[in-house]
Amino acid sequence: MYIIAHRGSSSAAPENTIAAFDVAVEQGADYIELDVQMTMDQHVVVIHDDTVDRTTNGNGLVKSYTLDQLKKLDAGSWFDQQYTNERIPTLQEILERYSQRIGILIEIKHPKRQIGIEKAVARIINRFSYSRHIIIQSFDVHALQRIKAFAPSLRTALIIKPDAFKLTKRKLTTYSSFANCLNMKKTMINKWWIDRIHSFGMEVFIWTVKDQKTADRIKKYPIDGVVTDNPLFFQKEK
Ligand code: G3P
Ligand code: CA
Repeated sequence: MYIIAHRGSSSAAPENTIAAFDVAVEQGADYIELDVQMTMDQHVVVIHDDTVDRTTNGNGLVKSYTLDQLKKLDAGSWFDQQYTNERIPTLQEILERYSQRIGILIEIKHPKRQIGIEKAVARIINRFSYSRHIIIQSFDVHALQRIKAFAPSLRTALIIKPDAFKLTKRKLTTYSSFANCLNMKKTMINKWWIDRIHSFGMEVFIWTVKDQKTADRIKKYPIDGVVTDNPLFFQKEK
C-alpha cells in the first residue's frame, strides 16, 4: 500500500511547500500529493486554495498574481515562524527536485476556472521521464479525459465523493477508460466496493487520513494507497 503524503507531510510543516515535501521524503512516504493552479502569466504553481489568503501573507486570487509576484509571498509563517522563507513552488521546481526520489500525485484544482491547465501540466511533466511515479488526479472527469488525450500513458486518478455509492457498472466502465485509480473519501471505505473497483482494473486510494485511529482501521482493507497528513501513522506497515 502506497503511503501518500497529503500536500506533503502537512501535519509537520506548511502544506504544499518544499519543507513539507522534504519531510515526506525523510519519513519514507511513497508519494507526495500536491495541488496545482495557474498564475496570471500561465505558470503552474503548487497551492491548494484558489486564493493566497490562508497559506501566505498575501491576499487575493492566485490567478491575479504573476509568478514573480507570488514568489515574494511568505508561504510558511502562517504555520510557524521558522518557515518564514518558504515560497510557493512551481510544478517544474517540484519535478526537478523530487521526480527521481519519490512518487508525485498531482491534483488539478478548479479545472473549469483554469482553461488550459491540463495541457500546461502535461507539457511540464513531459520534460521528465515518467512512469507510474507520476499520477494526475482530479474531481473533474473532463479534466482527466483531456489529460489522457494529451498524454495517454500518464497515470490518472479520479477523486470520488460519497455519492459514488451510486456508481453503476456503466459509470465504472466509463471511469476505467480514462482513470487508472479511484481515490475515495475515507468515509466510503467498504470491502465490496474495493473489490468491485479492482474488478474494473482500477486501483483504490483513500483520502485523507488525519489520525492514528482511522489509520489503524484503514490498514485492514485491501487498498492500493492512502493519502495522509502524517505518513508516520503507517510507518510500521512498510
Ligand atoms: O487526495 C485527495 C485530496 O487531496 C482531495 O482533497 O481538498 O485536500 O485537495 P483536498
Ligand atoms: Ca489535494
